[in-house]
Amino acid sequence: MTADAVSPVPRSSSVHREAPPAVTAMVRLIRDAWKKAEPYTPEISQFFYGMLFTLAPATRDFFPINMEVQRGRLVRALVHVVQMVDRPDDLVPFLRQLGRDHRKFGVIPRHYEAVGTALLAALKKFLGDDWTPDVERAWAEAYTIIARSMQEAAAADTNPPSWTATVAEHRRLSWDLALVRLEPEQAIPFRAGQYLSVEVPQRPRLWRYLSPANAPREDGSMEFHVRAVEGGWVSRAIVSHTQDGDVWRFGPPLGRMSVDRESGREVLMIAGGTGVAPLQSLLDELSQWGENPKVRLFYGGHTREELYNLESLRALASTNPWLTVTPVVERGPGLAGCEHGTLAEAVTRHGAWPGHDVLVSGSPAMIRATVSRMLVAGTALDQIKYDPFTID
Ligand SMILES: Cc1cc2nc3c(=O)[nH]c(=O)nc-3n(C[C@H](O)[C@H](O)[C@H](O)COP(=O)(O)OP(=O)(O)OC[C@H]3O[C@@H](n4cnc5c(N)ncnc54)[C@H](O)[C@@H]3O)c2cc1C
Ligand code: HEM
Repeated sequence: MTADAVSPVPRSSSVHREAPPAVTAMVRLIRDAWKKAEPYTPEISQFFYGMLFTLAPATRDFFPINMEVQRGRLVRALVHVVQMVDRPDDLVPFLRQLGRDHRKFGVIPRHYEAVGTALLAALKKFLGDDWTPDVERAWAEAYTIIARSMQEAAAADTNPPSWTATVAEHRRLSWDLALVRLEPEQAIPFRAGQYLSVEVPQRPRLWRYLSPANAPREDGSMEFHVRAVEGGWVSRAIVSHTQDGDVWRFGPPLGRMSVDRESGREVLMIAGGTGVAPLQSLLDELSQWGENPKVRLFYGGHTREELYNLESLRALASTNPWLTVTPVVERGPGLAGCEHGTLAEAVTRHGAWPGHDVLVSGSPAMIRATVSRMLVAGTALDQIKYDPFTID
């Protein structure tokens, strides 16, 4: 499994403290064991859920009726996170978010115990003789550290575990893209640039992440841009079957995309597809101020038809001189002022962007390609921020 298989698990996006030797040894044991177990992931998942639902029957209601659609999401998430226990700088802030986010399911401490027991039992069954006492101790210790961190953050959170909002508008922008505006009962305390997990009535218990495309408003309303992905359970249902009056449930706001207006640094924004939504939210917030750092937004798609939001971004730029919008089109005819190629190519044609804060938002493939090409071009890793999109 790659880091991209789990979302939005942090990757090596910041400088790490050296892990103590004991932790490094623990992670080595965990990783070696997982290499041997990984080919059996479907069987491990099946055994894991069977045991979990026996140990803690109430947890069955947290998961979709048809377990096939998640294809062992939780097991893959657990294993990925456990393997990161030697990277506390990335892991701890992520676990705190995750612990708060898990309150929306109704998870209580006893469930963490059941999940730990089921995970270890499943690994033991499929690893046979490779499940030595040292390996068992390593997995148990890592799981305990992680579960404790999540539970502490959950216990300290005074917000509601989830929020509801009602669909006030659902508009098809194209055959595979919809704008959905919601009005919450109680304003959700998100910051511009953040995202939320969402459960829609057409797909109960299949939570997915979406990014509001607007900054927080006084009336609390939020706008989402949703693209139907091929074979997608939730996105296709949202685009095709959302109705006015539907009630959506939201988890707590997550993510770390932001603009530091005080830093004096200019900003480079790079958006692919609906990845433009959180960046538009940040621009919406900046536009409420008279003075801002200069912002250059590269907004790309495979074809010009994919740049569904270009007109409103250009309108924003026309009244805000600190903003420049550059469309980027990969193939087919271009449009006025556009660059050609992938976003990675277009952005790096302009050099390494020294002194800029860089925000990247889009599909996992686009983020991966853009970040790695920028690093080769000389941009420093700690200039770049992104919240990776899920893929599995
Ligand atoms: C931080 C974050 C913010 C997000 N914000 C938005 C947003 O504002 N608008 C929006 O439309 N989506 C957004 N997404 C993606 C969204 O959460 C779902 O992953 C996406 O809608 C697919 O869900 P699904 O249930 O339809 O597909 P699934 O049933 O989960 O997957 C079906 C197939 O689609 C593939 N797939 C899954 N996600 C993607 C993707 N993003 N691109 C291409 N293929 C994919 C899977 O590999 C699988 O083969 C965001 C994701 C993250 C992590
Ligand atoms: C250390 C403990 C845990 C870790 C690290 C963890 C991690 C994660 C992560 C990263 C996801 C997101 C996967 C995605 O949607 O992309 C997830 C989803 C989920 N988690 Fe946890 N989790 C833990 C404990 C628990 C517990 C105790 C429960 C309760 C039974 C639980 C129930 C769920 C559910 C229902 C989902 C939704 C995905 C699905 O339907 O499988 N988790 N978890």
